[in-house]
Amino acid sequence: MNILKKFITSFFKIKKSNMKKEIFQQSDIIFDLIRKYVKKDYSINIEIPENTSKIALVASGSSYHSATIAANFLREKVHCDAQSYYASEVSLAESFDVDSNTLYIFISQSGETADTNKALEKIKIKTDKTLSVTNTKGSTLYNNTKYKILTYAGVEKSIASTKAMSAQLYCLFLIAAKIMQQKELPARTFVEELLSVPEYIKETLSKRDEIRHYSKILSDYENAAILASGMFYPLAKEGALKIKETSYINTTAYPTGEFLHGHIAILNKKCAVISIVNNHNIQFTLDVLNKINTDYKTDSLIISAFPLPNIGKNIIISIPASTDIDFLFSTLIILQLIAFESAVILGRDVDKPEGLSKIVR
Ligand code: AGP
Repeated sequence: MNILKKFITSFFKIKKSNMKKEIFQQSDIIFDLIRKYVKKDYSINIEIPENTSKIALVASGSSYHSATIAANFLREKVHCDAQSYYASEVSLAESFDVDSNTLYIFISQSGETADTNKALEKIKIKTDKTLSVTNTKGSTLYNNTKYKILTYAGVEKSIASTKAMSAQLYCLFLIAAKIMQQKELPARTFVEELLSVPEYIKETLSKRDEIRHYSKILSDYENAAILASGMFYPLAKEGALKIKETSYINTTAYPTGEFLHGHIAILNKKCAVISIVNNHNIQFTLDVLNKINTDYKTDSLIISAFPLPNIGKNIIISIPASTDIDFLFSTLIILQLIAFESAVILGRDVDKPEGLSKIVR
């Protein structure tokens, strides 16, 4: 009787879940952003200061992960001096250097997060080169910044941010494209990569059965590690946050190579491993996985940008993607779905995790 009751309760939770609805809206939202911000000649229709090449990105939680992924990309591909900062650390710092040549970008779904707004207040005293990337027009953050970019993700009801996070990340990549155009770097190929994102998201969403199958395995664990490198590492941190928030499985992200420097000892306890294999780290990651399989007999989930042969008992979800951008968004969706499915399997309220609120004031 109890099993039947649990089944019926979780069935209705899935049916009504905002988190699920919001995950599945993402391809349409990105498509709308393209219509709003990318012109026919591929120029980017957003306003940022001229000659932007020094950038500080300030945010909290998932928005901070967007900031860190973007900072990584801006450094490596756009040759900018870019750094991300936790908003709470900026507002608590005894002294925080503000440079008049730097563009300060504040990212927030709600635009009402206290830490992020306090950081803005502190920085605004010394410079007006401030830009908000927010989902909420008229919010405190929106009103108090000079430049503004709206993420148009629609109202996000679930506490766990999914659609707002992917929309803000996409807007940050549009900023990167705009800077490439300002610097007269070849931006066309990159804009083409951005245009293909909605299709990749759709394809990823069609893998739901594979993802649910792995989530059943994950929901048996109390601990999990996500391994990734480069800009996929902050993405792994986002995946870990989402899994922790919704299913309460204690999940930590590690840079793939760094994991071997002692952290791997956590596998002496029961711990699931998720590895992200992008196009630049194939052999390296496979070597690390072989070591994990040999020394700790752990089964992993491998999320890969290309088809992989079976390695041990590992489960493989591959999303063939020739560009990092497509694979990045696909992996984000896979991690969101893993968080959602395992939380539902564990009978959690995915939209309202215990003790959390949508806006941290
Ligand atoms: C994300 O799933 C969280 N709910 C949380 O980390 C959130 O992203 C953070 O509190 C920042 O919120 P904001 O984007 O509205 O500023």
